[in-house]
Amino acid sequence: MINISQEDQSWVKDTLDRVIEKMEAVRQRTGEKIPAVAINGTYDDRSDSSVKWDMDNGINWWTNGFWGGIMWQLYHYTGDSRYMETARISEEKMDKCFSLYYGLHHDVGFMWLPTAVADYRLTGNKESRKRGLLAAQLLAGRFNSAGKFIRAWNDNVPGQKESNRGWAIIDCLFNIPLLYWASEEMEDPRFKEIAMLHADTAARYFIREDGSVRHIVEFDPFTGEMVRELGGQGYAEGSSWTRGQTWAIYGFAVSYLHTKKEEYLKAARKAADRFLSRIPEDWHIPVDFDQPASPHYEDSTAAAVAAGGFLELSQLIPEREEAYRNAGIRLLKTLAADRCDFCPETDGILSRCTGSYHGTWDREINFVYADYYFIEALLKLAGREVKIW
Ligand code: GLY
Repeated sequence: MINISQEDQSWVKDTLDRVIEKMEAVRQRTGEKIPAVAINGTYDDRSDSSVKWDMDNGINWWTNGFWGGIMWQLYHYTGDSRYMETARISEEKMDKCFSLYYGLHHDVGFMWLPTAVADYRLTGNKESRKRGLLAAQLLAGRFNSAGKFIRAWNDNVPGQKESNRGWAIIDCLFNIPLLYWASEEMEDPRFKEIAMLHADTAARYFIREDGSVRHIVEFDPFTGEMVRELGGQGYAEGSSWTRGQTWAIYGFAVSYLHTKKEEYLKAARKAADRFLSRIPEDWHIPVDFDQPASPHYEDSTAAAVAAGGFLELSQLIPEREEAYRNAGIRLLKTLAADRCDFCPETDGILSRCTGSYHGTWDREINFVYADYYFIEALLKLAGREVKIW
């Protein structure tokens, strides 16, 4: 439980009340959709199962677990079974992903931890357990033993010029908790071993000397040698993509929770202290700490994930407890004051979320996964979250 003042407790309660008031209306309106983004206050729907390839927008879209995740968190917080019923709509629709198969990649953790595994953890649903284990097998099957990393994406994407079979990305730290869960569930060490080998590689190759974090590292898929880093979703090669930094802060903290390996805590701390040192005066997080003054894009997702990471770390590193707790609370308060839409008549909570600095459709919009991490962090502060990761 995180120690917070009476004043902050009231703020958390009031903010969660506003979230519930909104999400109750949004849940009813959303019906059978699996939303990814709210455009002009209306959710899109990524349920289309005729779309097969990576980077397309159908049922295999990597964020499709987060709507269910919000529903499970709110079910747990409110006890209202209508959230559970809605969560199960996306979980069941996503069964189609397994037979489509080709669009699936390492993001199966993001997809099935907040849906099937959450369902199993909360209700003991045996079908959900099966889905979670199937997803874990897919993730484990992406392990490259030469480079000791989990392959991120797939080839065969229309328009792709070079193979990405040697690419690992920092985001995967949030997929490997699926492997920790599978090992715990099956009492079989294989999955955890793969997760730890990948996390060891991430700690060694992704955190730079100054604590900033690489997004993509390419390894030779046959020898395992590091080949180069790529700029990925940040501004440029060698720059500091903020969301990648937050996947490292929170992701290494989660790996530490599952393994108690000190190296992961050190990696999380290094990334966290670097992030803290670069937060702008207004506490609005840019897409990249090294982006130019113009064009300037923000990423509220990075702020929300960072908040969760700081709050988690505040409970793990006693000498940094106050600094990390204050950072987590300040990030959330800044989002709530400046970047949140709590109006029940519109879909989506957070604004100014950005997928990629050089993206086209995904700059400064709403993302369902940003809303998920915002709500999760508030529940963490309230001591009421479902542990998804
Ligand atoms: N793949 C996760 C992200 O875009 O941050």
